[in-house]
Amino acid sequence: MSKFMDWVDARFPATKMWEDHLSKYYAPKNFNFFYFFGSLALLVLVNQLVTGVWLTMSYTPSAEEAFASVEGIMRDVNHGSILRLLHAVGASMFFIVVYLHMFRGLLYGSYQKPRELVWVFGMLIYLALMAEAFMGYLLPWGQMSYWGAQVIISLFGAIPVIGNDLTQWIRGDYLISGITLNRFFALHVVALPIVILGLVVLHILALHEVGSNNPDGVDIKKHKDENGIPLDGIAFHPYYTVKDIVGVVVFLFIFCFIVFFFPEMGGYFLEKPNFEQANPFKTPEHIAPVWYFTPFYAILRAIPDKLMGVIAMGASIALLFVLPWLDRSPVKSMRYKGWMSKIWLVVFCISFVILGILGVLAPTPGRTLLSQVCTFLYFAYFILMPFYTRLEKTKPVPERVTG
Ligand code: HEM
Repeated sequence: MSKFMDWVDARFPATKMWEDHLSKYYAPKNFNFFYFFGSLALLVLVNQLVTGVWLTMSYTPSAEEAFASVEGIMRDVNHGSILRLLHAVGASMFFIVVYLHMFRGLLYGSYQKPRELVWVFGMLIYLALMAEAFMGYLLPWGQMSYWGAQVIISLFGAIPVIGNDLTQWIRGDYLISGITLNRFFALHVVALPIVILGLVVLHILALHEVGSNNPDGVDIKKHKDENGIPLDGIAFHPYYTVKDIVGVVVFLFIFCFIVFFFPEMGGYFLEKPNFEQANPFKTPEHIAPVWYFTPFYAILRAIPDKLMGVIAMGASIALLFVLPWLDRSPVKSMRYKGWMSKIWLVVFCISFVILGILGVLAPTPGRTLLSQVCTFLYFAYFILMPFYTRLEKTKPVPERVTG
């Protein structure tokens, strides 16, 4: 075996990669619950890729046959229903995992120097993931697939001058049709997965270049032993590989429980109108995107003017990109930040969740007002950040991690 590895290593850096990224990658020893979600995001990504490939074997991307082919997968293909539900529920699980992963970043300031690029690559993944989910949702060609896509694509129509031509260019037709379905299929199964995989590699390479942050936000490279190994670091393999397996097992229990017993999740994971084939002549009573888009959808609807709504929705995502440059705090972790940062993070999270709930519901004057208040607070969190992070009194950060 060792001779074989010598042969390989003389031609390809296999051992070097194993050491650099696993057996000699020293990660802080105080990782907590929130550090499970990076490896879980990788797990869900693999689940989506594998189940996606198998679904593609039995799916037909045409307006005439798409809906029936998905029904065929559910009823006739061996293990087809499990494959499809793993993929459909997997999409929602992906966003749950990624939202918790991003929340960890906010909590411990993981986006701060020197991890700005880790964050920016993460945000690019998030954008690509939203596009991937949006295009995937058209494929079953159900009522919500059709009308959801209709609402979102028509948003581009609000752009002055080029709006109408742009929506036509995206659809490839005067209305959403088999042509749109075909191009969304190509993008969903080939183009975007390649982009996402590439970005995940860049994300992890950027992280391993600077090393992981931790719940204390302490730089573990400051204190090393005589061999140059960080005193507060432990080798990723075997310590965190084994720890991550615990997270994987617990996650798979929850995931399988949902897939086997509650795959529709009360209409949140699989929306009820999508059990009916797309019909361009019949608009569903209430069109709402899937839950993971609803906070942004609520921001869009909070603003009465369509163009301004689209701009606000774009800005709400763009602000997340520049977060590393808005946070001026001398400390990273929420543990040592002042009370203003803590309160604003809580306000931000509550507003995000309320917006998410409002985005699912049909608008009423009261709900619109609430969504306007939450949109205001959402933006205030970012826009005021350079001020409150600089003004507040922080606690002293310990030299070493606190365990
Ligand atoms: C497919 C989606 C993603 C995958 C597979 C992924 C994977 C990972 C992995 C394996 C780690 C190292 C383990 C850990 O710290 O948990 C990590 C760290 C990190 N990720 Fe992601 N990630 C994804 C999306 C995102 C997104 C959307 C963001 C934020 C915009 C993000 C921001 C970060 C940050 C800031 C770190 C460093 C955390 C620290 O050192 O404290 N990631 N990611």
